[in-house]
Amino acid sequence: MISRKKLIAGNWKMNKTSADALTLVGDLVASIGRQNDVEVVLCPPFTSLEAVGKAIEGSSIKLGAQNMHHEGSGAFTGEISAPMLRSLFATHVILGHSERRSYFAETDEFINKKVLAALKNQLRPILCVGETLAERESGSTLKVVQTQTERGLDGVGKDLAAGMVIAYEPVWAIGTGKVATTEQAQEVHAFIRGLLTKLFTTAVAEKVRILYGGSMKPANAPELLAQKDIDGGLIGGASLEARSFVELVTAASAAR
Ligand code: 13P
Repeated sequence: MISRKKLIAGNWKMNKTSADALTLVGDLVASIGRQNDVEVVLCPPFTSLEAVGKAIEGSSIKLGAQNMHHEGSGAFTGEISAPMLRSLFATHVILGHSERRSYFAETDEFINKKVLAALKNQLRPILCVGETLAERESGSTLKVVQTQTERGLDGVGKDLAAGMVIAYEPVWAIGTGKVATTEQAQEVHAFIRGLLTKLFTTAVAEKVRILYGGSMKPANAPELLAQKDIDGGLIGGASLEARSFVELVTAASAAR
């Protein structure tokens, strides 16, 4: 079996001014800037991408965005393109977050265009999938995750698929303090990996990192990260403070 490097990504969402971002990133560079056994990605708001990018220069920490538009340029007021992100040395981009799906009406088709555009521009997409509470309660979790994954990856070639990152984020666990049990999370992660085998190949499926997101904290991370198919975390609330984020990276390092 291929061993996958664990990945811990901080999704700062709509938090922190550039000045606040610099304080946080300064602390992170000082404590985990030489961390090489875990891949660490910071996804600040667009307004602090450049400042954070400069602050992590020379460290092992990588830069990601929280969203992007699929077109390279043009009349799309308020949007940011893949080449713009690349010019700031971003390497990753979160796509299809449930907050984008629910508050900004992003569809699987729209998200798929962004996935293809990101890959074309050498950005690594972190494609988010996950069910709502109503969907879980009605027993349609796996079906929802399957549809979002298949549609999100439509048209992605085998050669690029291995570079994808998938984040399983049950909507009912995001920002609620309700974390999925390790069994619930592992079941869905294993299901996604099986799906990747069908869509691509076993070799591809074994390479793709599948992150868990939803109230991941230092207290629950070790157990989640010990699961066979949980390759890291996409962290919201706990990524906003250096101490908890560093503890999560340490937990990922210990779970290797
Ligand atoms: P929380 O960690 O705050 O639950 O957020 C998870 C998330 O949405 C990361 O993208």
